Amino acid sequence: MSQDAFDLVIIGGGPGGYNCAIRAGQLGLKAAIVEKRGKLGGTCLNVGCIPSKALLHASEAYEAARTSFKSLGVEVSGVSLNLAQMLAQKNEAVDGLTKGVEFLMKKNKVEYIKGMGRIASAGVVEVTDAAGAQRSLTTRNIVIATGSEPAGLAGVNVDGKRIVDSSGGLELNEVPGKLIVIGAGYIGLELGSVWRRLGAEVTVVEFLDRITPTMDGEISAQFLKILKKQGMQFELGMKVLGATASAAGVSVQIEPAAGGEQKTLNADVVLLSIGRRPFTAGLGLEALGVQMDKRGFILTDHWQTHAPGVWAIGDATLGPMLAHKAEEEGAAVAQKIAGQWGHVNYAVIPGVVYTNPEVASVGKTEEELKAEGIAYKVGKFPFLANSRARTNHETEGMVKILEDAATKRVVGAHMIGVGVGEMIGEICVAMEFGASAEDIARTCHAHPTMTEAIREAAKGVDGWTMQS
Ligand code: FAD
Ligand code: NAI
Repeated sequence: MSQDAFDLVIIGGGPGGYNCAIRAGQLGLKAAIVEKRGKLGGTCLNVGCIPSKALLHASEAYEAARTSFKSLGVEVSGVSLNLAQMLAQKNEAVDGLTKGVEFLMKKNKVEYIKGMGRIASAGVVEVTDAAGAQRSLTTRNIVIATGSEPAGLAGVNVDGKRIVDSSGGLELNEVPGKLIVIGAGYIGLELGSVWRRLGAEVTVVEFLDRITPTMDGEISAQFLKILKKQGMQFELGMKVLGATASAAGVSVQIEPAAGGEQKTLNADVVLLSIGRRPFTAGLGLEALGVQMDKRGFILTDHWQTHAPGVWAIGDATLGPMLAHKAEEEGAAVAQKIAGQWGHVNYAVIPGVVYTNPEVASVGKTEEELKAEGIAYKVGKFPFLANSRARTNHETEGMVKILEDAATKRVVGAHMIGVGVGEMIGEICVAMEFGASAEDIARTCHAHPTMTEAIREAAKGVDGWTMQS
């Protein structure tokens, strides 16, 4: 075993880990990043954000060519699917970006160590590589950035063929005739949309009586309506009792969550997407005194665990399981280790579902404001009244802005519409600057753009929407 001394060793090369490493390198710290996957980028780059967006983009283009080009005066014939090429271009995007992260490690003088990391004791990380060789790293700080894995469901055994999790759902080598998605959250609706666009008949089974449960209720209801119109079918308020796979397909037994008659749904493939759980196996956390909650999330105070010198960030800790949340925390921890300030504003972490139309939100929902007894004002604007949306034949959806009535600060925004995933950034900046709705309303926005809907919704908070 060889010995090394580092300022910090990061275990896990996902968005939390690699951004922590880059910031540490920028600040002159001696850092190492340990990753067992053989590639940097974590869940996000390898089997998450990037491959799913590659398939969403390509399948959207395929569907548009078949359905909406005609109304724009673009006649195309013989449009057909080359699934192998669609999957290959997805893999190319992943490969390019993971290599890019590796380059960034070199650029910032971070040592990239391939292998499984284990915390042997405070200040010592042992790495075992694929060939079984071990290396011991001594370090002042350890950052746990080991991420998450798909949650399982009793009676539904993921076999990677008939029953897949999100990773398998990105790799199907033929379009299933029928796809059952279990869980109407981010993954189920994004990947369900991909396979529906490519020709599958998709049924989504959801335990609750609504989809995307953490989203603003009004937006979520509109989203459901739009997805149904696109042909996705829903079994809401349904409990999955089990799934049986055979050579011919899969049968899924469900019953109403509130109790009632059972029924069986049949499909070629089932996608299980009912959430993710933190991944901390094999790290040796218990012996170290790192505390976790009942679900296994590492408990921290400003990313500091209960073990001195051991920090934790990203999906392995509490909070939204999003790449940009992990990234924020990674940079903040590196700064704290360097003796600087470290800050993450958890009130301003946007969430986007990259379907078409997209759904984007930041801050509080109306339901949360009501539950917290906060008096608020609301402004709304439909894309149907936005000139760019009308010109582009993309009129579905709306923008909704919520302002705290007492402080006059925007505390939430919720949108559904084409491209709103890009538009939500404007609200994030406004919220960081403590803007009121009037601040947004009095800011000149280019015409004709979809962002004018944000301005009109902001005017609506004070009752002076002009264009509807
Ligand atoms: P991860 O990205 O999970 O990285 C952790 C890494 O640690 C992994 O590579 C793992 O191999 C490694 N590791 C674990 N244990 C060890 C060990 N002991 N030794 C060495 N290495 C170890 N989020 C978004 O914000 N936008 C999206 O569009 C989006 N799309 C998604 C789509 C899908 C299908 C999925 C599954 C997730 C998506 N997410 C998205 C969520 C996002 O991927 C995660 O929130 C993000 O990757 C979390 O980053 P992380 O660094 O905490 O962990
Ligand atoms: P999710 O938490 O988004 O949704 C899970 C859904 O499954 C919920 O609606 C829940 O009520 C339902 N559910 C739970 N148990 C169930 C059961 N037994 N039967 C039926 N339904 C059940 O989880 P998902 O979609 O697996 O994604 C995991 C996480 O990955 C997301 O929460 C998100 O943080 C991240 N992600 C983010 C994306 C993005 O930012 N665009 C895209 C994909 C994933």
